[in-house]
Amino acid sequence: MSKFMDWVDARFPATKMWEDHLSKYYAPKNFNFFYFFGSLALLVLVNQIVTGVWLTMSYTPSAEEAFASVEYIMRDVEYGSILRLLHSTGASAFFIVVYLHMFRGLLYGSYQKPRELVWVFGMLIYLALMAEAFMGYLLPWGQMSYWGAQVIISLFGAIPVIGDDLTQWIRGDYLISGITLNRFFALHVVALPIVILGLVVLHILALHEVGSNNPDGVDIKKHKDENGVPLDGIAFHPYYTVKDIVGVVVFLFIFCFIVFFFPEMGGYFLEKPNFEQANAFKTPEHIAPVWYFTPFYAILRAIPDKLMGVIAMGAAIAVLFVLPWLDRSPVKSMRYKGWLSKIWLVVFCISFVILGVLGVLAPTPERTLLSQVCTFLYFAYFILMPFYTRLEKTKPVPERVTG
Ligand code: HEM
Repeated sequence: MSKFMDWVDARFPATKMWEDHLSKYYAPKNFNFFYFFGSLALLVLVNQIVTGVWLTMSYTPSAEEAFASVEYIMRDVEYGSILRLLHSTGASAFFIVVYLHMFRGLLYGSYQKPRELVWVFGMLIYLALMAEAFMGYLLPWGQMSYWGAQVIISLFGAIPVIGDDLTQWIRGDYLISGITLNRFFALHVVALPIVILGLVVLHILALHEVGSNNPDGVDIKKHKDENGVPLDGIAFHPYYTVKDIVGVVVFLFIFCFIVFFFPEMGGYFLEKPNFEQANAFKTPEHIAPVWYFTPFYAILRAIPDKLMGVIAMGAAIAVLFVLPWLDRSPVKSMRYKGWLSKIWLVVFCISFVILGVLGVLAPTPERTLLSQVCTFLYFAYFILMPFYTRLEKTKPVPERVTG
């Protein structure tokens, strides 16, 4: 075996990669619950790719047959229903995991210097993931697939001058049709997965270049032993590979429970109108995107002017990209930041959740007012950040990690 590895290593840096990224990658020893979600995101990504490949074997990407082919997968293909439900539940699980993963970043200032690029690559993954989920949702060719895509694509029509041409260019037709379905299929199964996989590699390479942050936000590279190993670091393999298995098992229990018993999740993971085939002549009573898009949808609807709404929705995502440059705090972790940062993070999270709930519901004047307040707070969290992070009094950060 060792001779074989010598042979390989002389031709390909297998052992070097294993050591650099696993057995000699020293991660802080104080990782907590929130550090499970990076590896869980990888797990869900693999689940989506594997189940997606098998679904593609029985799915037909045409307006005439798409809906029926999904029915066929659910009823006749061996293990088809489980493959499909693993994939549809996996989509929601992906966003739950990624939102918690991003929340960890906000909590411990993981986006701060020197991890700005880790964050920016993460945000690019998030964008690609949203595009991936949006296009995947058209494929079953149900009522909500059709009308959801209709609403979102028509938003581009609000852009002055080029709007109408642009929507037509995206759809490839005067309305959403089999042509749109074909191109969304190509992007969903080939182009975007490649982009996402590439970005995940860049994300992890960038992280391993600078090393992981931790719940204390202290730099573990400051204190090393005589061999250059950080005193507060432990080898990723075997310590965190084993620890992550615990997270994987717990996650799979919950995930399988949902897949087996509540795959529709009360209409949130699989929406009810999607059990009916797409019909261009029949608009569903209430069109709402899937839950993971609803905070941004609520921001869009909060602004009365369509173009301004589209701009606000875009800005809500764009502002996350510049987060590393908005936070001027001398400390990283929320543990040592002042109370203003803590209050604003709570306000931001509550506003985001309320927007998510409002985005699912049909608008009323009261709900619109509430969504306007929450949109204001959402942006205030970011816009005021350079001020409150600089003004507030921070606690002293310990030299070494605690606990
Ligand atoms: C497919 C999606 C993603 C995958 C597979 C992924 C994977 C990972 C992994 C394996 C880690 C190291 C383990 C950990 O710290 O939990 C990590 C760290 C990190 N990720 Fe992601 N990630 C994804 C999306 C995102 C997104 C959307 C963001 C934010 C916009 C993000 C921001 C970060 C940051 C800031 C770190 C460093 C955390 C620290 O050192 O404290 N990631 N990611």
